[in-house]
Amino acid sequence: MDWSKFFIPTLKEIPIGTEAVSHQLLLRAGLVHMLTSGVYSYLPLGLRVLKRIENIIREEMNAAGAVELFLPVLQPIELWQRTGRDKTLAEVMIRFKDKKNRDMCLGPTHEEVITDLVKGFVQSYRQLPINLYQIQTKFRDEIRPRFGIVRACEFIMKDAYSFDKDKEGLKKSYELMYQAYKNIFKRCRLSPVIIEADSGAMGGDVSHEFLVTAPIGEDEVVLCPACGFASVEGDSRHPGQKCPQCAKEFLEKKTAIELGHVFQLGLKYSSALGANYLDEKGQEKPIVMGCYGIGVSRLIAAIVEMNHDAKGIIWPAEVAPFDVEILVLKTDEPQLMTLARQLEQELARRGLAVLVDERDESAGVKFNDADLIGIPFRVILGKKTLSDKTVEIKNRRSGAVQLVPVASAIEKTAECVGS
Ligand SMILES: Nc1ncnc2c1ncn2[C@@H]1O[C@H](COP(=O)(O)OP(=O)(O)O)[C@@H](O)[C@H]1O
Ligand SMILES: [Mg+2]
Ligand SMILES: [Zn+2]
Repeated sequence: MDWSKFFIPTLKEIPIGTEAVSHQLLLRAGLVHMLTSGVYSYLPLGLRVLKRIENIIREEMNAAGAVELFLPVLQPIELWQRTGRDKTLAEVMIRFKDKKNRDMCLGPTHEEVITDLVKGFVQSYRQLPINLYQIQTKFRDEIRPRFGIVRACEFIMKDAYSFDKDKEGLKKSYELMYQAYKNIFKRCRLSPVIIEADSGAMGGDVSHEFLVTAPIGEDEVVLCPACGFASVEGDSRHPGQKCPQCAKEFLEKKTAIELGHVFQLGLKYSSALGANYLDEKGQEKPIVMGCYGIGVSRLIAAIVEMNHDAKGIIWPAEVAPFDVEILVLKTDEPQLMTLARQLEQELARRGLAVLVDERDESAGVKFNDADLIGIPFRVILGKKTLSDKTVEIKNRRSGAVQLVPVASAIEKTAECVGS
């Protein structure tokens, strides 16, 4: 892919009115663009990151036995009245009347829709358990959209819903999702703390939140620096108190960003909407539910928040928009352009995504932009390539530079990227 054709509108200056580093860098690197407060476009580079995160999530959800579907955003209020959440979620719900004068909303979440769907399909215990998920846009009229895509009014969530015969089944489904979430965050190079949380408006009893500590976090957790124990603040869990787990260190208070949330819902939605099944004895029982959400678009911001330096983003390999960036410093040298094309083709043949900066810009502009957009490895074709037949391979994270002969450039780059 050529830089000049790819639409990467980088910015030199920090956009005004931005507090979070991730917000600044995502705008400056041309990954997202603000249409209006809380509403963002994903530009080509940002979309590539989004798709890679989505794929990690898909792989882990599928491996855990969940099945993907796609539910409507447009939902009748009548359905929400049956669970009472037209009232409890009134603050965030975007409501309107359509031309047929029907009360509608844009889904802030999908428990009602999925429960209604499953109710019409599941009659017998033989059809359980099932776990259905989607990756979709949610709409929430956030009073205070903040930090760019961290808290937006339109954002992308992966939401999964499990349906079981009984509590035992729910515990198994929950455990599978809990483990899948750990895998997903690990692959995104995030190390969240996991805390037992308040289920709030969702209802149900057990719930866990996955959070990363960061200066821009809107949640607060108390943490043990020694053993990693984490909790919400509460009885015997205050900053300055001895860790209740290891008793070695004192608890500290930190701000944190919520990345994901898993809930054992129990019967709240199935009872309200009449989603029942017939058990082995022919008795009618409500389905036992769980729900599991990850803020997919928020993850992009969280990853940038944890992976950057003064010059720009440093993408972890698995979510990087490209694996390698080739910088051609003298685009008027046909030899260098030919070599760039050869490298691009060969690396692409090995399954690597390659961005070629072939713009007619100064080396300084190209280096700065490369640092800003943060592709893990860059291959530099310049003066030395012509004079000494060498190329430079640079690791964005460590800054380590290797000079390698042109003849082994493909092998060496592939080796660096690890493919
Ligand atoms: N306004 C938002 N913008 C971006 N991501 C969000 C927003 N609200 C929630 N999320 C993400 O969706 C996940 C699941 O949502 P949920 O737990 O229902 O949100 P909340 O805790 O804000 O009520 C959250 O863990 C978070 O990562
Ligand atoms: Mg939550
Ligand atoms: Zn401890």
